[in-house]
Amino acid sequence: MINDLWYKNAIIYCLSVGSFMDANGDGVGDFPGLMRRLDYLQGLGVTAIWLMPFQPSPMRDDGYDITDYYGVDPRYGTLGDFVEFAHGCKQRGIRVLIDLVVNHTSDQHPWFQEARRDAQSPYRDWYVWAEQKPPKADLGVVFPGVQSSTWDHDDVAKAWYFHRFYDFQPDLNTANPHVQAEILKIMGFWLQLGVSGFRMDAVPFVIAKKGADQTDPVEQYDMLRLFREFLQWREGDAIILAEANVLPATDLDYFGNDGDRLHMMFNFQVNQTLFYALAAADVRPLVKALEATSGKPATAQWGNFLRNHDELDLGRLSKKQRKAVFDAFGPEPGMQLYGRGIRRRLAPMLQGCRARLELAYSLLMTLPGTPVIRYGDEIGMGDDLSLPERNAARTPMQWSSEPHGGFTKSDKPFLPVIDQAPFGFQHVNAAQQRRDPNSILNWTERVMRMRKEVPEIGWGRFEVLPSGTPQVLVRRYEWRNNTVMFVHNLAASPREIRLKVKRAAPGEQDLVNLLSDDHSYPDKTGEHHIRLETYGYRWYRVGGLDYLLKRTDV
Ligand code: GLC
Repeated sequence: MINDLWYKNAIIYCLSVGSFMDANGDGVGDFPGLMRRLDYLQGLGVTAIWLMPFQPSPMRDDGYDITDYYGVDPRYGTLGDFVEFAHGCKQRGIRVLIDLVVNHTSDQHPWFQEARRDAQSPYRDWYVWAEQKPPKADLGVVFPGVQSSTWDHDDVAKAWYFHRFYDFQPDLNTANPHVQAEILKIMGFWLQLGVSGFRMDAVPFVIAKKGADQTDPVEQYDMLRLFREFLQWREGDAIILAEANVLPATDLDYFGNDGDRLHMMFNFQVNQTLFYALAAADVRPLVKALEATSGKPATAQWGNFLRNHDELDLGRLSKKQRKAVFDAFGPEPGMQLYGRGIRRRLAPMLQGCRARLELAYSLLMTLPGTPVIRYGDEIGMGDDLSLPERNAARTPMQWSSEPHGGFTKSDKPFLPVIDQAPFGFQHVNAAQQRRDPNSILNWTERVMRMRKEVPEIGWGRFEVLPSGTPQVLVRRYEWRNNTVMFVHNLAASPREIRLKVKRAAPGEQDLVNLLSDDHSYPDKTGEHHIRLETYGYRWYRVGGLDYLLKRTDV
């Protein structure tokens, strides 16, 4: 059971092929380059790689505008290279998840080209059309400030087409059975090539009813069961990890009451309140979000993250909370995006403060669910705010202090490698950090190893314990009679907390520190006094060292 539901205790690493490693020297990362770095990823302890879109694309939205779902963009290599990569991962016990971007295609996709040219074409109904500009066309844009409408006129089709995202991304008419059949075919194709599942892009929009007459969103949740059933017929252990920034009240609609829809969802509620907690040293909204998202079917799982390839979306926070995060982590207008988010990477937001980075990562690793980390964050990479929109946080991986950070031999990388202090590749790179036992890279590796040895986090039930202050978060997880406890101090000054270990037999009340020798023993009254340094954190196993040795069932 433990291995079957592999995603319950996984560590997912998200990367885009183009920015990871360039083997052929054309300035763009590729599959052969990525293959050379698989041992690095295995050494880091990654158990699954999430590849961002790599199919042929005009690249107007970082590959989220696809022109052929069954191929590899020639910049990244060939389908053969993909298969070699998939095999390389399999040999190392690393699973592969890929992006499934089926809410829309590129406007250059042959389906759209045919649809717009010929009203009689069967592809016409693969997209969403209107004769007149729909009255609410200017509402519901996803990229305010850059996108002005969700409907645009197509001169060739002589009709209006719907696009939830940019105007070059026409929405597929996902209610059309032929489109649904094609989506299944796409999944089947990549499953056959060895992937273990999909990060499904923009799920609420995929399943929304689309059309000129749609005013309020209406979700067609049954579609999710259709995808799920197909997936499980083809590959028993394949999963869908949904990008769905929705309210907790609808979580079960996505997971399915019986766990018969999506396996995993990103926890946007926890992500946003976590950044508020870091910014304001106030864990109360985070605790609320943790509790609001705790009820889910046994086989379902949250994907937790700090940063991803998009802006840090703070749209679900209250105005006051959002302002606190902006003030702390993105005060300048150039750091903000779409009126709701921050386009910086983690390390610069935390001003490169090592203690705070560790705190943030320790929180991520111990959140109920499965951690999803972003390439480069393991070495504390920075951002380049001179690049437009979300590209600021998509610069090439910094491997060494060689020119262009060892990413490419070309003089013209597709995006510049960061070369300004303090986050330039001369100072922040994997090669240097590998040699330094105290580097953030080696710290991350150790913490990831320990995370995998604590399956209670991915599988168990958690409880937030009172710490006496909103600045300190204490959580206990229980699973199969094992108990672990995590303490995090979000304050910029030391704190002491006191607590008693309940339900443990006498002699088994010791708190064994999993990351250092600094164990905690109760005083005569059974109370622990835990002194946490600024941004300090502790991972404890409850039950004492002897108890630890008695465990047999992980
Ligand atoms: C998702 C992706 C984002 C992309 C959008 C349109 O939100 O995360 O990067 O721009 O979908 O596909």
